[in-house]
Amino acid sequence: MIRLNNITLTFPDGDSRVTAVDHVTLAAHPGTVTGITGPSGSGKSSLLAVAATLIRPDSGQVLIDDINTTGLTAGEATKMRRDKIGIVFQQSNLVPSLTALEQLSVMNELGARHSRRNRRAAAERAGALLASIHR
Ligand SMILES: Nc1ncnc2c1ncn2[C@@H]1O[C@H](COP(=O)(O)OP(=O)(O)OP(=O)(O)O)[C@@H](O)[C@H]1O
Ligand SMILES: [Mg+2]
Repeated sequence: MIRLNNITLTFPDGDSRVTAVDHVTLAAHPGTVTGITGPSGSGKSSLLAVAATLIRPDSGQVLIDDINTTGLTAGEATKMRRDKIGIVFQQSNLVPSLTALEQLSVMNELGARHSRRNRRAAAERAGALLASIHR
């Protein structure tokens, strides 16, 4: 469950600031899909970066499963993202020299290492994920 409460985000723009997100409030409920649409430059990526706790907003609160992330330290926010948020970036962020299985294993292993799950479980999970989309 993601709740955005009156979020405003600005960026420096020369001597002034540009408002990327202007007092946005929304709730994304479990089991549902929420789409954000709008013209280029309307603030979609900025809003998603705030919702994913990658950027701290100028004002407003981001609640993930009722945890108010505004008060989290950087370390706590990293942990929360690891456990609760999956991000598919617009750029693929893949490593060109790796196979699909290796890419998945690496990502899983990174997560597994941080959450102290073993590497074999990560490799098995990578295989299962690939098998689930293989036709
Ligand atoms: N890192 C940044 N520094 C300065 N200004 C930024 C930065 N990121 C976004 N902006 C500005 O914030 C506003 C919103 O941009 P954003 O990238 O969130 O829009 P968008 O809806 O995702 O656009 P697109 O459809 O092109 O992806 C724009 O005016 C943009 O120029
Ligand atoms: Mg964008």
